Amino acid sequence: MTYQVILPAAGQGKRMGAGKNKLLLELNGVPVLIHTLKVFEEDALCNRIILAIHPQDEMEFKELIKKYHIHKEIKFVHGGPERQHSIYNALKTVHPEGIILVHDAARPFIQKKQIHLLVQKANETGAAIIGVPAKDTMKKVHNGVIVETVERSSLWVIQTPQAFRISLLHAAYKRAEDDHFIGTDDSSLVERISHPVSIVEGDYDNIKLTTPEDLFFAEAILKKRNR
Ligand code: CTP
Ligand code: MG
Repeated sequence: MTYQVILPAAGQGKRMGAGKNKLLLELNGVPVLIHTLKVFEEDALCNRIILAIHPQDEMEFKELIKKYHIHKEIKFVHGGPERQHSIYNALKTVHPEGIILVHDAARPFIQKKQIHLLVQKANETGAAIIGVPAKDTMKKVHNGVIVETVERSSLWVIQTPQAFRISLLHAAYKRAEDDHFIGTDDSSLVERISHPVSIVEGDYDNIKLTTPEDLFFAEAILKKRNR
């Protein structure tokens, strides 16, 4: 089963504090953006990449894509103020049939076998996301005081990719727009229109590069994988 993928890459990387888009930072000498693009470049089932970018990064991203010989067709769209706007801009350019994946460009360690499991599950059920069981004790906090210890066994930490039937994701985004709802992931938009979302157990090393210490973890993961 083939799929298209939207890669939101139009953020500012404020929490990373590098003074530029964190996707331009290098891991083992190669920009994060390229690590992520390579996963999809090397997956024969991926037939189209839609990259949401900030206009200020456009020239540099295009040069890097040429330099690192990424040959797969990439459709560039401009992002918006929030991740959700960037993805909606991209979704509007997607071919209307089949499965769409949304994957944060800031998660370079996703593996092909997990992608294929997700695509298969989304093809069966309409919507599937990847995550891992929470490891730490989880508590709800308000004004510096514990409100509640949340039962951990039912809590999962959610990652990307998230995979959907394209028609379903369109409907979810349209409803969110009509309601002025902004979610922190794509699944939350689909949940709002009452479509069940399946979960696939992923890997703890599919980290998102968010704050500076994530770069140390990332280098260690690369070393472990010999990349
Ligand atoms: N993203 C996007 N458009 C936005 C905001 C984020 O396409 N308006 C992308 C980022 O480039 C990233 C992914 O969404 O690949 C996940 O977002 P996040 O980790 O929050 O990245 P940034 O928004 O860049 O970081 P920060 O929130 O620290 O500024
Ligand atoms: Mg952000």
